[in-house]
Amino acid sequence: MSELSLRHWHVRRDEQGIAWVTIDVADSAANTLGSEVLLEFAQVLDALEAAPPTGMVIQSGKAAGFIAGADLDEYSKIDDVAGIKAIVARNWALFDRLEAVAWPTLALIRGHCMGGGLELSLACRYRVAVDEPATRMALPEVMLGITPGWGGMLRLPRTVGPAAAMDMMLTGKQIDAKRAKRIGLVDECVPPRVMENAARMLVLSGQPRRELSRVQAWLNGPLKFLVATGARRQVVKRARQENYPAPYAIIDTWQHFNGNSLDVPPTHPASLEHIFAQGTARNLVRVFFLQQRLKALGKGSDFAAKHVHVIGAGVMGGDIAAWCALRGLTVTLQDQGIERIAPAIKRAAQGFGKKYRGDRKQVRFAMDRLIADPDGSGVAQADVIIEAIFENLDAKHALFRDLEARAKPDAILATNTSSLKLEDIGSVLTRPERLVGIHFFNPVAQMPLVEVVEGEHTDAAVFARAQAFVRQLDKLPLPVKSAPGFLVNAVLGPYLLEAMRCVDEGHSPETVDAAMVRFGMPMGPIELADTVGLDIAMATGKALTGTSKVPRALQERVAAGKLGRKSGAGFYVWEEGRARKDDLPDNVAGLAERLLEPLVAATRRCVAAGIVADADLADAGVIFGTGFAPWTGGPLHHFAGSESS
Ligand code: NAI
Repeated sequence: MSELSLRHWHVRRDEQGIAWVTIDVADSAANTLGSEVLLEFAQVLDALEAAPPTGMVIQSGKAAGFIAGADLDEYSKIDDVAGIKAIVARNWALFDRLEAVAWPTLALIRGHCMGGGLELSLACRYRVAVDEPATRMALPEVMLGITPGWGGMLRLPRTVGPAAAMDMMLTGKQIDAKRAKRIGLVDECVPPRVMENAARMLVLSGQPRRELSRVQAWLNGPLKFLVATGARRQVVKRARQENYPAPYAIIDTWQHFNGNSLDVPPTHPASLEHIFAQGTARNLVRVFFLQQRLKALGKGSDFAAKHVHVIGAGVMGGDIAAWCALRGLTVTLQDQGIERIAPAIKRAAQGFGKKYRGDRKQVRFAMDRLIADPDGSGVAQADVIIEAIFENLDAKHALFRDLEARAKPDAILATNTSSLKLEDIGSVLTRPERLVGIHFFNPVAQMPLVEVVEGEHTDAAVFARAQAFVRQLDKLPLPVKSAPGFLVNAVLGPYLLEAMRCVDEGHSPETVDAAMVRFGMPMGPIELADTVGLDIAMATGKALTGTSKVPRALQERVAAGKLGRKSGAGFYVWEEGRARKDDLPDNVAGLAERLLEPLVAATRRCVAAGIVADADLADAGVIFGTGFAPWTGGPLHHFAGSESS
């Protein structure tokens, strides 16, 4: 048995002559593929070529997973396309070399296997996935505005067939071990206890590399255009090429250039030159780092809740409770009577059923964690208490007086209020420093952001614990100061009102919405107002701007009881949860700029007033709290330099 030990790689040969190659990137919790790591991998191949093994198994030395992908920190610092191309060329050649070695190769995949990590494993002859929930495979490059350039666009279609490959590459979706086996991404899916044996047997089996079926091979050859046309049709629905060139480039590079970006002429829209110059990739990488920054905000405390008590089983409280149960917490849910709690429990059961795709055992475990508690007996045990009752100060006062008397002394007391001042709510508490805002957005399951609100009296340790709790729920915490609308609603309000003013001036709702969807918003502002509820939009509008500025179109509808989606009509007529859009949008030119102006101005005001700590956090909050077009890198980033507007 011989050994080779480099900084990031270790090689050990066993009695059967198999080289067990372990990647264990130094000074890092996860394995990422930076230049140094890949240069060392070339040295590993050099050493093995000098004395070929009977087989080679690549595995991870990290508990966190296999390989998380490229080292984005390193690559985001490269500021010219020549530098990017040099890396693509080097790694393309390296993985080609791996594919061509004289001995059988196998990737033993346990935990995450993303981007460059999956491309590396695709260059191996075999892949074994360990059947655990943490095992996930994806090519998520498209989400960063780039293409899988190290062989993924060539090898994934060749391995799983082009339709499944396009689906993975164009969405960045993650595939678990069982599904990976089903689609042919891995040769075997095995439990952890037999993984090494399975790898050993397969790598020495002499079994040929998996080949596509004849039909799949045609679709990946002479009939490529069929898959490409279908894929393009899907992409057009989701992303405009001028804002998101990467998915189009993936299809083109696969269809016309055999998956090799280096063969794409510099003038072609799929070229690395074009993608680099266009700018979206840099902005999406920025958004990725902003997300990392929000995640890190949860690390200020090692607080971990076991039991959450939620009061108010309405729209918000019911969904917050369900989300907490889904995340493994014990949840007691209180309201004024069992009949008010029952609908929330029913909704939770439906949500769990969808989430676990009918896995009854998982659904039952989650349901067991969610306990109806009309008497509020959970208050005394809870680590976190979240109030989500009517937006009424007197009601909240009565509740918090009682809570403070019964809660554990170190339990976090939180309110989900949208518009009341934390200082006012906390005025009845003996220790108002315990109170913090944990402001979820509707719909809870879909919105990644949660504002964590610091009142004048909130204790710093409580504030840090609340952020750690939000991370425990796998949401992104945004620390904000207690002020009307916090950040997200303060920014959305003026934008929605401006959109309604456009309707006052004669634009159709369809036109206004189309302008913003073209810009890259997930939903137009008028449809969003209808979804939130026009009564709520009116109350927020009044609170933020004063009565005089409320648009006529809004006042008239609220007066007529047309409150939007929930009442069946607002700006749109709502049928089966969808807005009926009749008019074809007319000329939308200039509308987006007009609507964005108040949004950007409000974001700047929030930064200036210290409601959010800096411009980057504000951009992060607006992107993750409203879905603001990610290709821009955020409103302040996008409009930097237009301060005077
Ligand atoms: P909701 O009206 O749907 O639900 C409130 C629930 O609280 C009702 O089921 C009611 O029976 C219960 N309740 C009232 N007083 C109670 C008491 N003393 N003890 C126990 N239960 C009591 O209200 P929604 O929309 O869920 O809002 C709740 C809170 O969340 C409010 O503070 C609101 O500002 C905030 N919020 C609402 C959002 C929304 O989109 N609806 C978004 C973010 C925050």
